[in-house]
Amino acid sequence: MGIVAKPQVDHAFLAKPSHDELARQSYASNLRMYTLATIGGGMRTVYDKRVKPQFEKAQGRAPKDEHEVRKVMLKDPYARAWSSMMRAAQEMVWESVVPTVERAQPELNNRIEALVGKPGVNKMGSLSLDPSTVKPKYATAVDIHLMPGNYETERTPNDATQGAFYDRGVYVYQGGMGGDNCHGIGMSLATFIARKFPNLKPKKILDIGCTVGHNLVPYCDVFPDAEIHGVDMSAPVMRYAHARAEAMGKAVHFHQMNAESLKFPDNSFDVVTSVILFHETSRTALRQILKECHRVLKPGGLMLHMELPRTATMDPYDAFYLDWDAYYNNEPYYQAYTATDMKDVIVGAGFAPDKYVEYLIPDLVWCDPAEFDAAVRGDLARGNALARWGESIKWSTYGAWK
Ligand SMILES: C[S@@+](CC[C@H](N)C(=O)[O-])C[C@H]1O[C@@H](n2cnc3c(N)ncnc32)[C@H](O)[C@@H]1O
Repeated sequence: MGIVAKPQVDHAFLAKPSHDELARQSYASNLRMYTLATIGGGMRTVYDKRVKPQFEKAQGRAPKDEHEVRKVMLKDPYARAWSSMMRAAQEMVWESVVPTVERAQPELNNRIEALVGKPGVNKMGSLSLDPSTVKPKYATAVDIHLMPGNYETERTPNDATQGAFYDRGVYVYQGGMGGDNCHGIGMSLATFIARKFPNLKPKKILDIGCTVGHNLVPYCDVFPDAEIHGVDMSAPVMRYAHARAEAMGKAVHFHQMNAESLKFPDNSFDVVTSVILFHETSRTALRQILKECHRVLKPGGLMLHMELPRTATMDPYDAFYLDWDAYYNNEPYYQAYTATDMKDVIVGAGFAPDKYVEYLIPDLVWCDPAEFDAAVRGDLARGNALARWGESIKWSTYGAWK
């Protein structure tokens, strides 16, 4: 492929792997990327050349949706081997990071606690925790994408373990393809907003479900004059996010809150965003969160959410491929989300139908700058947001102006 990912950017709170741990993490990461891209790429050939023709011969038509594709693909030995390898690689990614994070504790928690406890001095941003925050069942019932302990497990009153685990784990999971700070989506989204809407000049920006701030911190560089806020329901990831941002010299205000009932007054923010949040929420919660986005957004403000491409925009094979996570990667709300008509729910949350927007945003870490320019100008051909070999990744975004 000719692309070599950079090592993860170091900071004072990153749990650093030992030599042997790094070797295991690299192995797990490469195994996952190889399974996803190379073996996964072969799946399309298996489908086109073997599985689909057999189906057509028997039925006199092509499979009509991802469910029919799945039924026949899972009988094929290549697809079964691919699926098993995907599951094993996903488990290995997390398992390879556990010893690194466990070794960093309890020293890591203590250092973060010392920083959190410091009143204002030398701090750029802030952290506010609210132990009464309701952690919804859809976000806590299973270890989402097989991450042991999920986002919210809190082992001690000062625990930030799940944040440390997520920070290193996501880098290993992405094989560095999300950027050396796991920041690619946020940087692309922020830069797109700044360049496409130069008159917006936001003073206050909110990102919901921000976890450790991977895709929120880039807003500090793109909008240096704005006040940047992030919310998440989980205290451990908020503690870590705060420490990480401070270590990176970025001013971000983190709040433990449930996005279904934000504690901000009406009309507070010029821009409200999220990154890969909605496929991990229930349909009821999605509607309620969008209502809250509408409420806290100022008139004339922009809401923009980056999420998975919708099934309706994909061919049945691609929808089947993407669906894997719903069955084998503890993503129970995946399918309900990808089947959702985002315009319908955004309008249902109070936005005017003619204010609805959706954009396909190329990933700035890897794309040709000319392609990003084309997206900003609005003449990037829409279409399938799933990257194929030789294509850059593009992020689907959905939103509206208030
Ligand atoms: C997939 S992660 C989001 C990743 C993050 N936006 C990023 O770019 O790295 C989903 C996050 O949403 C949080 N979350 C889920 N439901 C929530 C809710 N109702 N309110 C606040 N946070 C929520 C979870 O705790 C988790 O940290």
